[in-house]
Amino acid sequence: MQWRRRHCCPIKVTCTVKRSAFRTHVVALLFLALLFTFLLFFSHQDRLPGRSGARENPLAYTIRGFRSPKGEVNQSSSLRGLWKDSGYVPPKPLLNLSSQQAEGAAVEPGGGGARMGVMGLGDSMSSNNSLQKEMGVGGTLSAEPYPYILNEPFKCRDSTPFLILLIAAEPRQTDARNAIRQTWGNESVAMGLGFVRLFMLGKGKSSDTFLQSSIEEESRLYHDIIQQDYKDTYYNLTIKTLMGMNWVATYCPHVSYVMKTDSDMFVNTEYLIQKLLKPEMPPKQRYFTGYLMRGYAPNRNKDSKWYMPPELYASERYPIFCSGTGYVFSGDMAQLIYQASLSIRRLHLEDVYVGICLAKLRIDPAPPPNEFLFNHWRVSYSSCKYSHLITSHQFHPNELIKYWNHLQSNKHNACINMAKEKNSRYRHRKFHAERSQ
Ligand SMILES: *[C@@H]1O[C@H](CO)[C@@H](O)[C@H](O)[C@H]1NC(C)=O
Ligand SMILES: *[C@@H]1O[C@H](CO)[C@@H](O)[C@H](O)[C@H]1NC(C)=O
Ligand SMILES: *[C@@H]1O[C@H](CO)[C@@H](O)[C@H](O)[C@H]1NC(C)=O
Ligand SMILES: *[C@@H]1O[C@H](CO)[C@@H](O)[C@H](O)[C@H]1NC(C)=O
Ligand SMILES: *[C@@H]1O[C@H](CO)[C@@H](O)[C@H](O)[C@H]1NC(C)=O
Repeated sequence: MQWRRRHCCPIKVTCTVKRSAFRTHVVALLFLALLFTFLLFFSHQDRLPGRSGARENPLAYTIRGFRSPKGEVNQSSSLRGLWKDSGYVPPKPLLNLSSQQAEGAAVEPGGGGARMGVMGLGDSMSSNNSLQKEMGVGGTLSAEPYPYILNEPFKCRDSTPFLILLIAAEPRQTDARNAIRQTWGNESVAMGLGFVRLFMLGKGKSSDTFLQSSIEEESRLYHDIIQQDYKDTYYNLTIKTLMGMNWVATYCPHVSYVMKTDSDMFVNTEYLIQKLLKPEMPPKQRYFTGYLMRGYAPNRNKDSKWYMPPELYASERYPIFCSGTGYVFSGDMAQLIYQASLSIRRLHLEDVYVGICLAKLRIDPAPPPNEFLFNHWRVSYSSCKYSHLITSHQFHPNELIKYWNHLQSNKHNACINMAKEKNSRYRHRKFHAERSQ
């Protein structure tokens, strides 16, 4: 402790004694102050709006999901738990860390420890015999198992876009597609940066030939639909997402960023670009972000939409993943995720599945710059709130148009009538603070 010695007077004994007594007091006081700040911080965190109420109910992935303020540590310990709970010994990690180093890594900011745990997950997943069985010949699933019915192979031929929106939509949702084309999916939001919008479709009922021909008409008009020959069901959402990843990897590998989202979402594309992606900065690599779902347990209730049979996924916890309602990643990730997916059995929960791919790649999703950007439930509308978020869930096409238009016409004074918006005082304060920076 060089710095302390410099301030001490080593010659006079009395002085040293006094000094050290004084120092003890100061240290004690500092410690108390620190403790107090800590307590204040965490008790405040718990009271933030949305933390406990709205955030937990809309998507019950889990029968006992938890969020801990000590997320990093907990993530890694929960992932380590995966090895134990699933009853098999993980294969030797690729890196050679002593156990002491591993513990140290677990508290490192940025999730060094999580990576350690994640490594075990990826390797143990692929070492499981039952998983191996699903992987087909040679331990890999065949690439491109479903042929394209509609494709847009030349979207990036002439120039490389800044952003691709991959939007999961059902074949019959023509209204939702049209609403998105007029609102957050309109290329004018990207202000000339280069922007590709793609709706991802499977096949509707084969009896409905009228539906398919109207989709083909729509495709000729807008050139924004990719469709492959698999049944378009909720349980095939993983196939759909991988179709999108593979499209990016094949036809547009140099795009800066990709967002995957759904047809019932409100996406503030402008804020996404300006606040999160920052086109003035060099594009990130190996980047993945969204609403982080950390430490969630598989739902074992058979009646739930999110039911996960133990035969398909035996472990006690999912790895960290981003809510499928909207996540954003750098262009290089499309190829990485698709490649990783070829040796991971397809699970129907798309966002969990992508999380497992990331775990296998040992890439931790990054927390977004603030926790209000990505919302996987519906945030009550106000122009102030909606001008400072990226996603909000559960929109009917008509509402989308209505709120989008309202936001556009109030863009430059979105937070001025704040007194009228009573419901979420905290956010207003926060946004006000942001605006005045
Ligand atoms: C992590 O979370 C679990 C909750 O299931 C808790 O039991 C455990 O003590 C936590 N560990 C750390 C290091 O915070
Ligand atoms: C890993 O550890 C084993 C046993 O502790 C040692 O024999 C081996 O050389 C190490 N490998 C590396 C790459 O450090
Ligand atoms: C997209 O926005 C532009 C400019 O605001 C508008 O002219 C165009 O009609 C919009 N496209 C659609 C499909 O609504
Ligand atoms: C997914 O699509 C495939 C190919 O069309 C189909 O055989 C399968 O039944 C679908 N799965 C579900 C769960 O809908
Ligand atoms: C691993 O294999 C066992 C037995 O073959 C199976 O019961 C379990 O579900 C598998 N684990 C995972 C994570 O799928």
